[in-house]
Amino acid sequence: MWPFSLQRRYLHSSLCLMKKLKGKTSAEQRWLQRQLKDPYVKASHAQNFRCRSAFKLLEIDDKFRLLQPGYSVVDCGAAPGAWSQVAVQRVNSTGTDPELSRGAVVGIDLLHVPPLDGAHFLSSHDVTDPATHTKLLELLPHGRAHVLLSDMAPNASGFREMDHEKLITMCLSLIDLAEKILRPQGSLVCKYWDGILTHKLQDKLSSVFGSVRTLKPDASRKDSAERYFLARMYRESVR
Ligand SMILES: C[S@@+](CC[C@H](N)C(=O)[O-])C[C@H]1O[C@@H](n2cnc3c(N)ncnc32)[C@H](O)[C@@H]1O
Repeated sequence: MWPFSLQRRYLHSSLCLMKKLKGKTSAEQRWLQRQLKDPYVKASHAQNFRCRSAFKLLEIDDKFRLLQPGYSVVDCGAAPGAWSQVAVQRVNSTGTDPELSRGAVVGIDLLHVPPLDGAHFLSSHDVTDPATHTKLLELLPHGRAHVLLSDMAPNASGFREMDHEKLITMCLSLIDLAEKILRPQGSLVCKYWDGILTHKLQDKLSSVFGSVRTLKPDASRKDSAERYFLARMYRESVR
């Protein structure tokens, strides 16, 4: 059983959602019902994460141990900030554990990302813009990251193929970013929507990373085309 304060917070946010959806379409009502039943939504409230996506990264990191204390992490498509919350904890970027090395987290989003201790956010920045890359080089310790995370997603148009192609193009741009900032042997986690161009992205990643695998975390909705590539062992020779 949750403490009373958490129950109250959950009830409050549920009521807020209901108020927002009053008079809205049946699709929106269905979305609300799904949110209220979703165990990851409940858990994100209980554990103070900004959204349920935190559990996707937690699951990936519990399995592959990508985020180590002292590491520098770039979080692409960071808003509202749940992946950055996970990264801050795991790389010890607030210095909470003085026994461990202190890492760094830089998040980027087109939207505003509310401040978070231990993270530096580049709000209103486009990950694909070379000017953003220049800022990242300045912000990262030694201008390099150990891990590049991307949970980026374009606004869905509803046309599955078009959205798929758009997201694949965004993921491909991460390879250019990796060339500028990723350390040799570094890792990349990127979200994509499965479709006809998935192999193109996989081939490109395989050309610059020693290992590439596909992940579908439990927290990723079963009925969604969402997948993640985990690419490890970035090759030094490409720079
Ligand atoms: C699914 S949300 C990310 C959720 C985030 N991982 C979290 O845990 O809070 C996807 C985000 O990608 C951002 N995005 C989409 N295209 C982008 C771009 N070109 N540059 C930066 N951010 C982008 C969107 O604004 C959106 O906030």
